[in-house]
Amino acid sequence: MKLEINPWGTEDVKDYEKLSKEFGIQPFAPLLKRMKEPHLLMRRGIVFGHRDFNKILDSVKRKESYAMMTGLMPSGKFHLGHKILAEQIIHHQQVMGGRIFLCVADVEAYNMRLNNMEALRKTAIEEYLLNYIALGLKPKNCDFYFQSSRSKDPDQANAFYRLAGMAARKTTFNEMRAIYGEISPAKVMSVMIQASDILHPMLPEFGGFKHVVVPVGVDQDPHMRLTRDIASRFDKEYKFPSLPSSTYHRFIRGLKGGKMSSSDPLSYIALTDDPGGIKNKIMKYAFSGGRETIAEHRKKGGVPEVDVSYQYLYSQFEPDDKKIKRIYEDYKSGSLLTGELKQILIEKLESFLRDHQRKRKKAKKQLEKFLK
Ligand code: TRP
Repeated sequence: MKLEINPWGTEDVKDYEKLSKEFGIQPFAPLLKRMKEPHLLMRRGIVFGHRDFNKILDSVKRKESYAMMTGLMPSGKFHLGHKILAEQIIHHQQVMGGRIFLCVADVEAYNMRLNNMEALRKTAIEEYLLNYIALGLKPKNCDFYFQSSRSKDPDQANAFYRLAGMAARKTTFNEMRAIYGEISPAKVMSVMIQASDILHPMLPEFGGFKHVVVPVGVDQDPHMRLTRDIASRFDKEYKFPSLPSSTYHRFIRGLKGGKMSSSDPLSYIALTDDPGGIKNKIMKYAFSGGRETIAEHRKKGGVPEVDVSYQYLYSQFEPDDKKIKRIYEDYKSGSLLTGELKQILIEKLESFLRDHQRKRKKAKKQLEKFLK
């Protein structure tokens, strides 16, 4: 069976290794030893793959600045799945010293999903940007923009939309169809603007960066492949100094299994969820790798690999390697019961949400600085 990934779909990815092989994504783990402070998501393999990320590490080593560029589709509530991208962006800004280009894909969202620009912008600011700020994003070295209005500076705006327009010549209908399946004018426009999103930090009007890295969910890889091809075909009009690099993270599983998705409230924990309701949500819905009865659980042990509460602890809420190992072993041996495991997560989540929501209130005062 041929593996396909659909950037506008919501399917869960089952086999990351097979997918990586098929599309030529390199494993991330061998790079860890080159990093002084890899993020927890990297150490734990949630960020599992990359293209050309070594080039970014080379830049860091040479103390050259690089650009981190990524985009968000403003759809619905900001949840734990979105949080892992936000954390990577902030890590690039605060720890690795990258310059952040963060775009709201409002044109893409308008063309592909929701047709209300006004509502899209509101969601982008109130759901996404506020949460980013509360998680630690700073206005310094951060260029936050909407695809529909790149810049007030005419030279910058012209450069951005010129690139989006000219990118179209560097691909063909057949190539696009092979990557995206059925093609529509809406898809073509979204893809060309996205190519400009990814490549424009290399233009002189935007800093002329040598390297750009794009952290994304693996569902966005088709865009990366096409954008890299487009970049490599610009040998006259634009001589891009390098092809954009990328890193790929796994999806955070939904509460009931499957992908965490903003279209299904029972699949996610939103960062604005009432901490008081978390206990019930986890107890009732979090998919468990425990056994039917306590006796059976004690005898056979649980299956942490499929247990959603364990996975949330592993990927986001228990950074201490010794403690997470202990939880894994105790659950697997049966000495830790499902209810007890869930309780560990509930306490972590409640305190994270309380703290985060306090920060979110304060973040409102900072919005202006990002929306200049
Ligand atoms: N297509 C991305 C999504 O569906 C959003 C996006 C727009 C993006 N421009 C980008 C992602 C540039 C990475 C880089 O979420």
